[in-house]
Amino acid sequence: MIEPRVLYPGSFDPLTLGHLDLIQRAVALFGSVEVAVAENSSKLALFSVEERLEFLRAETGAMPVKVEHFRGLVVEHARARGIAILLRGIRTVTDFEYEYQMAMTNRQLAPDVDTAFIMPSEDYAYLSSRLIKEVYAAGGELRRFLPERVHAALTARLRRTN
Ligand code: PNS
Repeated sequence: MIEPRVLYPGSFDPLTLGHLDLIQRAVALFGSVEVAVAENSSKLALFSVEERLEFLRAETGAMPVKVEHFRGLVVEHARARGIAILLRGIRTVTDFEYEYQMAMTNRQLAPDVDTAFIMPSEDYAYLSSRLIKEVYAAGGELRRFLPERVHAALTARLRRTN
């Protein structure tokens, strides 16, 4: 059983190829990673937490990756798991502002937990779950941004609602 020392928290709604790229990089750097799906995201959800966990587990099944979910503060979840490193992806300067605020707030809440940043492949540097939701709502083609099973689930959902 792997016991990752680094926690990658997020909404993963939906899981994108950019997230998977980051997970692969985290595994290469740290040997293993725990991915933590936040339950209390205020954003309008596309997939339930259970569905997001399923997608993550299916896509990372062959890797030394643990997938969990959490409610409440991410630093408390990290502490409870005995993990002192949070991992986040930074794509753009705009990301930096938000990530900096979050990292500093988390540091105030838990000085024993630090945040490390990884840049995703330039292929995915522009990719965001928020824009994917927007393209989905407008009926745009999303295949190139998503793992096949996530894309298939979205397509099936569109068929049901049309
Ligand atoms: O993928 P996202 O939506 O950018 O991830 C944001 C997330 C889930 C990491 C962040 O909202 C979070 O950590 N939420 C849990 C509640 C919490 O600890 N909030 C304080 C962060 S400063």
